[in-house]
Amino acid sequence: MSSMRAISLTGFGGPEKLEPVQVPRPEPLPTEVLVRVHAAGVNPVDWKTRSGGGMSGVLGEPPFVLGWDVSGVVEEAGFGVTTLAPGDEVYGMPWFPRAAGAYAEYVTAPSRQFTRKPSSVDHVTAAAVPLAALTAWQSLVDTAGVGAGQRVLIHAAAGGVGHIAVQLARHLGAYVVGTAGAANHKWLRGLGVDEVIDYTSTRFEAATGDIDVVIDLVGDEHDDTSTRSLRVLRPGGLLVAVPSGVSPELLKRAAEHGVRATPFLVEPDAPALARIADLIDQGTLTVEVEDVLPLDQAAEAHRRGERGHTRGKRVLSVVS
Ligand SMILES: NC(=O)c1ccc[n+]([C@@H]2O[C@H](COP(=O)([O-])OP(=O)(O)OC[C@H]3O[C@@H](n4cnc5c(N)ncnc54)[C@H](OP(=O)(O)O)[C@@H]3O)[C@@H](O)[C@H]2O)c1
Repeated sequence: MSSMRAISLTGFGGPEKLEPVQVPRPEPLPTEVLVRVHAAGVNPVDWKTRSGGGMSGVLGEPPFVLGWDVSGVVEEAGFGVTTLAPGDEVYGMPWFPRAAGAYAEYVTAPSRQFTRKPSSVDHVTAAAVPLAALTAWQSLVDTAGVGAGQRVLIHAAAGGVGHIAVQLARHLGAYVVGTAGAANHKWLRGLGVDEVIDYTSTRFEAATGDIDVVIDLVGDEHDDTSTRSLRVLRPGGLLVAVPSGVSPELLKRAAEHGVRATPFLVEPDAPALARIADLIDQGTLTVEVEDVLPLDQAAEAHRRGERGHTRGKRVLSVVS
């Protein structure tokens, strides 16, 4: 059996628990593809899971390989696969919330959890897209049904999900308000945000209101952002509480304010990724990659991400 390089999580804890190892190369079952990973996106759920939170309850005890965002090339197609073939350039967020093992040279997954990557960008940029863009798409389109003329507030507008969500909300015809530190304001206006609030100097609820949909990418763990967001919603408006879900207390307060609140968890969705690839190739959606590190520096990627001020995304390069 041939082996491959991967980054193993050797135990729950800090970034030092991420260790380069050799492991057996996986083989595709019927209906699965084996994908040669060219680049793997890094997401907050990766370091939350590494620390024993995030999806650790689903994944069980380490060792296991983290990572869900993949851009790469189909190496082998299992029996029954008719829509992809060896040589196809694909991207996806397979298996979530089960382990995908994207911090590795190869992954296997159901073929229909991948789709063709956007052709106008390289694998590094494509690997930055799936989890963040599916979160933006599924919260704005599928969960909130955002439409033209609505007012949408996006917290953490400069982050991985946020910078894609602001562009999608704008594309859907919404008036977009975002929260971010001052250093990101000019860039966010360039992405189409109508108003940016500096959350470090201004209470956002004093600066905006009449909001139809809040996409909260900060949560109640930081400064009661979810709870405070209830006050800016119009009657009947919707809070999508992305990072920390909706506590019974938050639900009660939402009812008192005459607004709605929903938890959210992203799901694999290749048809949505195909539409997102089209938006990228048409130039409607641009994806910011703050930095790229080699696979062996996954620990350093986590250290940088955990500081909480990534502009756009951080990606691990697996094939240089
Ligand atoms: N439930 C799900 O399915 C799901 C899916 C995706 C993500 N998430 C969660 O959603 C959150 C965001 O994910 P992400 O990938 O976008 O994270 P990220 O890229 O790490 O977010 C970094 C951004 O957060 C901004 N920020 C930090 N504190 C802020 C605050 N108090 N108010 C406004 N902005 C703030 C920073 O902007 P400045 O530098 O300007 O401060 C930075 O640009 C994470 O907690 C993640 O785990 C959940």
